[in-house]
Amino acid sequence: MDSLTFPRDFIFGAATASYQIEGAVWEDGRGPSIWDQFCRRPGAISGGDTGEVACDHYHRYRQDVAVMRELGVQAYRFSVAWPRVIPDGDGAVNPAGLDHYSRLVDELLGAGITPFVTLFHWDLPLALQQRYGGFTDRRCIDAFLKYVEQVVTVLGDRVKNWITFNEPWVYAVLGHLLGVHAPGLRKPRVAFRVAHHQLVAHGHAVGLIRRVCPDAQVGITLNLAPVHGVDHSPGTARAVEMADQALNRFFLDALFRGSYPQRFWRRLSVLRPPVRSGDMETIATPVDFLGINNYTRHLARRSFSNPPFFFDMDGTTPPEREYTAMGWEVYPQGLYEVLMRVKNEYGNPPVYITENGAAFTDAIAGGDDDGGAGARVEDPRRVAYLDGYLRCAHQALGEGCDLRGYFVWSLMDNFEWAEGYAKRFGIVYVDYPTQRRIVKASGRWYAGLIAASRG
Ligand code: FCB
Repeated sequence: MDSLTFPRDFIFGAATASYQIEGAVWEDGRGPSIWDQFCRRPGAISGGDTGEVACDHYHRYRQDVAVMRELGVQAYRFSVAWPRVIPDGDGAVNPAGLDHYSRLVDELLGAGITPFVTLFHWDLPLALQQRYGGFTDRRCIDAFLKYVEQVVTVLGDRVKNWITFNEPWVYAVLGHLLGVHAPGLRKPRVAFRVAHHQLVAHGHAVGLIRRVCPDAQVGITLNLAPVHGVDHSPGTARAVEMADQALNRFFLDALFRGSYPQRFWRRLSVLRPPVRSGDMETIATPVDFLGINNYTRHLARRSFSNPPFFFDMDGTTPPEREYTAMGWEVYPQGLYEVLMRVKNEYGNPPVYITENGAAFTDAIAGGDDDGGAGARVEDPRRVAYLDGYLRCAHQALGEGCDLRGYFVWSLMDNFEWAEGYAKRFGIVYVDYPTQRRIVKASGRWYAGLIAASRG
């Protein structure tokens, strides 16, 4: 196969999120988050796992930055835990929490790694959930802006790339409609309010971040995926359109066109979130870039099980296709489709792929079982996955998509939300009992790609 290289100025990064890696949940004044509470709910998390220790990155961040430097990773996308900065959500600021991120940023810059900071990657302070119902209530928007101002004031002299929200669809739908993520609700009306309020909060945050940090580049990260039909019938076509509007266009249209997609909006009917005058203009505040997370595609079909929408997004799974350990179809051309769609239908904004990667079952070979010297992790399926998706990204770049960079999910194995530690996405293996890090074959492969692209 042809060797793959990217333009010299293309940025190769790695991504993580606070609750998934930090641990140290009771340290230095951090307040509880909705995930700390959700993890205690019996049966919520596979294996009864929690983020209490995770990768212990809070204490081992220097070592983790050193691993990135060794691999030649140029940028690191991480998230700030709001409960470390303002433990009860909108009360007093906790300087010790901010200090941690300040030290992390210094460590990164010292290693020549550019920080990309996500401000909300789902770990809402529990107090805000209890007090306001979280983003159900507009007071949570004000609290978010207060928190953002604190973070950007302290880090903005060194951090220039900001991502307001990570995957507002997942946060709203998995957390408030399906109940499989924190806060674990199954309330459709609440879910759509949470979706809308995150977008309004995003729009206000864009202006705020630019005021505090005039040379900031500000964006938002969406989970985007192509929706295809299980067949070519007219009923399926309608389900595809509805699913696509619910998953992709709800956010893309709001951000880039200032309106929600009509058919879906009409169908929402009594579930519609209250939209105040000025909201849509705020949401459509121009961004400096769009972050795209893509892992798979969806196959939609008609379904009468979820009125008023009448679609099922995860219809059938053709057995001849390849699936990751998450059960997600390996579908690299979907990344190409998503990138070209954003280019062609939404004005070709600068784009970063802020997450892409795969969970497969990994095992340590060589060395001791607990990861002694000589230990290796061979993960050829992850290498093939990354290679396939990066080739599709490369194709979109060649066809005019303004793609600026790619962040692999994830730097290291971590707490995969409801799946706990059983699903490993890292290019670095984490041996949890010892917290030892072992660079996987995919990590070496990624380092080689970066080196080749940089000439
Ligand atoms: C995304 C999340 C990220 C990670 C990957 C596998 O939805 O943003 O935190 O869990 O999925």
